[in-house]
Amino acid sequence: MTFRSFTPRSLNRRTLLGATGLAGIAATLAACGGGSGSGASDAGGGSGTVMRLALNQTETHPSFIALENFGAALEESTGGAWGIDVFPNETLGAQQETLQMASNGSVEMSIVSGTQLENLNPDFLTLNMPGAFDSIEKQMQILQDPAIVGDLFASLEESQNITVIGGFTQGERSAYSTVGPINTPADLSGQKMRVQESDLHLAMAAALGATGTPLAYGEVYTGLNSGVIDAAENNEISYFTQAHFEVAPYFSFTRHLVGTDYLIINTDTLNSMSEEDRTAFDEGWAAAVEEHTGLWIEQTEQAIADAEEGGATFNEVDTAAFAEALSALPEEFLTSESQTALWDAVRGAQG
Ligand code: GCU
Repeated sequence: MTFRSFTPRSLNRRTLLGATGLAGIAATLAACGGGSGSGASDAGGGSGTVMRLALNQTETHPSFIALENFGAALEESTGGAWGIDVFPNETLGAQQETLQMASNGSVEMSIVSGTQLENLNPDFLTLNMPGAFDSIEKQMQILQDPAIVGDLFASLEESQNITVIGGFTQGERSAYSTVGPINTPADLSGQKMRVQESDLHLAMAAALGATGTPLAYGEVYTGLNSGVIDAAENNEISYFTQAHFEVAPYFSFTRHLVGTDYLIINTDTLNSMSEEDRTAFDEGWAAAVEEHTGLWIEQTEQAIADAEEGGATFNEVDTAAFAEALSALPEEFLTSESQTALWDAVRGAQG
């Protein structure tokens, strides 16, 4: 199996599972009663199968809450045959690592950002493009439309043994800085901005006026605090739950992107479900998406209020200047027929 991981040229970063990382993760999985290798683990007492799900968010984040509830509902609807054990806070590693773990079966599921999947199938890049989605509402409609995303979601099964189940919103992503408020791309000049591990997002940082630096999510706080980076871009909930507001108090509403997280599952595990259990799984996931989207709206407002309380400031920007700066990216990056077909379908569905 070829597994291409993103290795930025600009940075000597931690990649894939080093020896220490592997030992730590094996110990964590062993402690929870899970085995390594493929297949799921015993619930510890019951006869059901508990799927381990790797997440890089805190226990207060909408994704953790919705996934925990998904697990409880699944256990109930399958009469205890299937459950989910969510590991938050990057306990099992950064997304680049947990993606590989879901592929080889050392965990059953993970939430990964679209940027991670872009490195396995460049068609995913289309949905990571600034301007792909006009709103969270449109995004959720499209991500639940099999005519648009069905083939894409199945595209990693043969090569990676990974099935994409569906998407959670990452909300609108905006820029924030340790230096000062941003109004136009010129304000980011000379600032090193953390981006996710994606060539598109490196180019996006340049278009926003900054110099892109790819880093794993869990390294952003320290990066901002130590001055390795001056800026980052994310949604309000991550800004607050990861405490980035403490070290980068200037949040500017560039709203340059509506981002997507995906629930991925090891395909062998998915295929081992009975038809009824698979239906229960799909229903549980649909309910989790709905809950997640509702929590998203609530928590976004709360995150802004809480970050302000903690000393952060929020400002509107010159939206037209940022739109203009980003406008060349689709032509530069959507180069294959499948990417342009997907782009047309996604844009066409939004009128
Ligand atoms: C969001 C997203 C994560 C992603 C993170 C990042 O928080 O939900 O999946 O890892 O952004 O910027 O890395």
